[in-house]
Amino acid sequence: MNDKFLIKGLVCQKKLEGTITVGGAKNAVLKIMAGAILFKNTLTIQNMPFVEDVKRMGELLTKLGATVNFSKNEVTINTEKINTQSLDNKIATAMRSSVVLTGPLLARYGKVVFPTPGGCTIGLRPIDLFIKAYEKMGANIEYKDDAYIMTSQKLKGAEIFFDIQTVTGTETIMMAAVLAEGTTILKNCAMEPEIQSLATYLISCGADIQGAGTSTITIQGGGLLESKQPYITISDRIETGSFVILGALLAKKLRIEKCDPSLIESLISLLKESGVNMNIGKDYIEILESKNLKSFNVRTHEYPGIPTDLQPQLVTYLTQSEGEGTVFETIFEGRFKFIDNLKKLGADITVMNSREIIVKGPHLLKSNSELLESYDLRGGFSAVLSGLLAQGESTVHNVYYIDRGYESLETRLCAIGADIKRIQ
Ligand code: EPZ
Repeated sequence: MNDKFLIKGLVCQKKLEGTITVGGAKNAVLKIMAGAILFKNTLTIQNMPFVEDVKRMGELLTKLGATVNFSKNEVTINTEKINTQSLDNKIATAMRSSVVLTGPLLARYGKVVFPTPGGCTIGLRPIDLFIKAYEKMGANIEYKDDAYIMTSQKLKGAEIFFDIQTVTGTETIMMAAVLAEGTTILKNCAMEPEIQSLATYLISCGADIQGAGTSTITIQGGGLLESKQPYITISDRIETGSFVILGALLAKKLRIEKCDPSLIESLISLLKESGVNMNIGKDYIEILESKNLKSFNVRTHEYPGIPTDLQPQLVTYLTQSEGEGTVFETIFEGRFKFIDNLKKLGADITVMNSREIIVKGPHLLKSNSELLESYDLRGGFSAVLSGLLAQGESTVHNVYYIDRGYESLETRLCAIGADIKRIQ
């Protein structure tokens, strides 16, 4: 849990070179793992990133009575023997995506008991939109001893308008509707690619879902699904974007493989304008040495806008680009904690309020054996990026947060020339 990374900075020299391969999307695979509860037979998931959150989701399913077998980047899940609908408290409170299990469990068994899901420190992350949706679908909801107890004879289809576009809210209620009675119409849905990937697969196994990937999704309820072929996890667009930003700042020549550039169009257009040289292929991106990068303004936005999960990495980039850039974080109210690390290293950042900062660059980052904290997964990546940029050595703490979403990050970074070691 408390591994550290020891990093020797590259002093902003464009030294990294070689090829880095992108894994399957953590935020796709976590949902289809929960979706295994909708299936009568064994579900196989391939191209799975073997990261901490995926292991935790496997543990949650095992504790419910499901049979889960991991083998490197593949997992099989059979839910026939599920014998309880109460989520393990410790794991569920530490991982937000545990909430996705509530939809399939309530829909299939008519019961689910779970704690308010925890997760990163990036914001309050309430689940009021989930509760409202379940109430509309006819569930009875009690809240006792810090846990929700939800029961329902048979979930009923309903028309639900999400006050806020919620990624896991859209996915969870869409999956609950697959086993509900009648028609469910979800409006103001999130449109992230992971949602479309999930729906496409569920449809191939017998679900009746229309409109996934748009703001209105219509689901006709039916029976349990049957898996006829493995789910192939789509590439992780946030990992791809993280490596594109790394390459822009520190690479002589970096080839990013097994990615889908079309999933990060917003980032690519922003960085091209800033002066980053890149060749874009169908499943690869090549970053060439880029100098005199220009700053820009960032406003995070639901897909297809700039993802909030790339905001910490972009703030780090702006400390090195020429000029002044304002960053407006519209999704989460507490996603700037990582800035403490950048300030420690000498970055010029003004915090206007909990949603807006101004970054001036370029500034050489200097580390005198500084300790950099990982407050959340993407902030943790930004800490590694800051350490790699800086002059001197730095130590990144709480590497568990990074391991939640990046598989063997230090191994892949060493392979392209970074000086980073894991200390147990
Ligand atoms: C998903 O979180 C991702 N996690 C997050 O990635 C990502 O940052 C986020 O979507 C936004 O893209 C997973 O998919 C496991 P939301 P999610 O519900 O679904 C508010 C990472 O680093 N809201 O779309 O929890 C919420 O507070 C993680 O991989 C309510 O108010 O995010 C936020 O302000 C971090 N009530 C906004 O909606 C609700 O009931 C969007 O959150 C639900 C959400």
